[in-house]
Parts: sequence; structure tokens; C-alpha cells
Amino acid sequence: MPKSPDSVLSCYDVNNDPLPDSVLRYAFRQLLGNNGYVQIVNVPDSFDHVAFLKELGDFQPTPTGTVVGDLKPEADMDDIYHAQNRRPLVPHTEGYEFRGLPPRYMALWCVKPASGLGGETTLLDGDRILREFTETELRHFSETPYAWTSTEGLARRGVHHHVEHPVLEEVDGERVLRFSYNNLVVPEGDELAARLLERGKEIYDESHVAVEYQERDMIVWNNWRMLHSRNAFEDPTRHLKRVQIAAPIGGPYAA
Ligand SMILES: [Fe+2]
Repeated sequence: MPKSPDSVLSCYDVNNDPLPDSVLRYAFRQLLGNNGYVQIVNVPDSFDHVAFLKELGDFQPTPTGTVVGDLKPEADMDDIYHAQNRRPLVPHTEGYEFRGLPPRYMALWCVKPASGLGGETTLLDGDRILREFTETELRHFSETPYAWTSTEGLARRGVHHHVEHPVLEEVDGERVLRFSYNNLVVPEGDELAARLLERGKEIYDESHVAVEYQERDMIVWNNWRMLHSRNAFEDPTRHLKRVQIAAPIGGPYAA
């Protein structure tokens, strides 16, 4: 059963006074560090999502080049696997198919919630999956390069990726997890990788949190740790904004 988010930050305090900027930022950092994600709610009209997110790092363009992207259903995409349609997605981390590091943080905020059922963003702490594997098995995931492909939707828009990365990497003392239920290519006979995907999906389905949006609500998560996905929805006018935030410049992938 999906759970309600347990890392929620309101822009207003118990007396209905707006939180001072410094308090909001402090609480945000604490929650993000502790839980891997934050849902910001009761967001006032005056809130500047882009300015708030810039403090976390530089924005990283998506494969189609957008920096502050729009997530809206595209009419010709309902038949395939693609972020810009209304069908459900499967659990993944963002940017597993990028050549360098995946985005450090991801942010989505709501311009127009989906009316009717569905459209929630779902999240799960990847540590819950990795806990099921032994040290030796985790070492295998750090040492074995796997092939990752991009989605059918991006391929239809002319974006083709085919890269090799291990599932786990260590960057500046932090673990980076890549996961894609449908676009990690499991080599013939690699039962460990097959188990990672199957158990990953099962744990995701049992234990994810489902975030429902009100206008201007925002979720931010640590994409090196959390998996995300989305529930199907009907409303063709649902509209979210999306930003990817890069790892700090100067890391091992700096060109
Ligand atoms: Fe995604």
C-alpha cells in the first residue's frame, strides 16, 4: 500500500504565519538530508521555485535541452513508455542513461494538478532495496558495468543513448545508485541483476510514498539515493515543471 509522504514542509507555521526564509531553508536541508526527499506544501503565490532551487546547485539540461522543463502530456505519446504522457511509469532514478553522473537532485513543482484520480509522483528510498543484498553482492554492482538504454519516448524524439555504468558508484564519499526497471539491460544469466530489478519493483510497489499535488507544491529529492515513478492519470491539462540539479562542478566528471 502506498504511504503518505513523511517528509513534508509547510511554508506556514502553526499560527498560520509564513516561515521566515532562513527557517524554511534550514528545515528543507535537514529533511532532504535525513529522508532523501522533501514535499513543500502551502506554497504562497510569491514563492520563486527557480530561485529557491538555484541554491542547491547548477541546473542540468535534459536530453532534449530544456533547463526548466514542462511536464505535460504530449498527444502522440500515449502509446509508448514516456514521461510526457498519461500512462504510469516504472521505478527508476533519473539520468541512468546519461554519459556522466546522473543529476544530484530532482525537483518537480505543480502548475496545475490533475483533476480526478491519479497523477501522483511516487518515491522510494533506494537504501531499502540495497539492504537486501550482501556486501559481496553490492561489490558486484560497483564493479560490473551494465548497459542502459533510453526510453522509447526519447527515441521517438530523436534522442538515443546507450551507455555503460555500474549500478553503484562512489563519488566524493557518497553512493550513487542507478536503477531502471525497464531500461537496465540484464545480461543473459546475471541472476543478481535480475533479482535487483524484480525485488526492487516489489519493494517499490509495497513501500513507496505517493505525493499528491496542490497548486505550487514542490517535491525535491536526492536522485543518487531515491527511486521515483508516477501513477497514471486522465486529465490532459495536468502540468508540472521539472528541474535537474547537477552534481557540484569540480567532481570526477568535470570536463
Ligand atoms: Fe523520471
